[in-house]
Amino acid sequence: MGKVALPMRRAALISLTALAGAVLLSGCGAEGVVSPTPVTVVGSLPTPTLAPATPAFKLKGDPVAGKGIFGKAGCAGCHTLSDAHATGTVGPNLDQAKPDYRLATARVTLGKGVMPSFKGQLTPQQIADVAAYVVKATGGTPP
Ligand code: HEC
Repeated sequence: MGKVALPMRRAALISLTALAGAVLLSGCGAEGVVSPTPVTVVGSLPTPTLAPATPAFKLKGDPVAGKGIFGKAGCAGCHTLSDAHATGTVGPNLDQAKPDYRLATARVTLGKGVMPSFKGQLTPQQIADVAAYVVKATGGTPP
């Protein structure tokens, strides 16, 4: 009887070894999945839309003159800008938005949504000035 039992135990040992091998192999297979494969982006990435180049964008703004315009034109009623002690909350907080010169001149000239256009109220030079002020006051580099 003992002679029969031995081959059976060997068979059990072999199958165990095979099992261990399979586990190792599947381990390798899992590594293959993590190998660098190009990631396909589904959908389209938002294309950054450049603000339109308005007449004021082509002018050099004076931030010092712009500070006065910011107060007089009513920007503070809608915007927060710490340099101007403005605390409006209708429009974006400019300290955080940090608009560039192109965007600032475009918004003030054309308006957008709730923000009115200042084209009829301010000259292109005044728009350039107030935009330069906002850019400078929020840490950007005015033209
Ligand atoms: C009646 C409220 C109102 C007034 C007054 C106003 N704004 Fe705005 N402003 C807004 C709103 C709302 C937006 C956001 C427009 C949008 O993107 O839909 C905005 C956007 C802006 C932006 C772009 C910010 C960004 O990063 O998107 C700038 C710069 C800006 N305003 C500057 C000014 C200046 C300078 C003045 C004064 C000449 C002014 N605003 C007056 C409401 C106002």
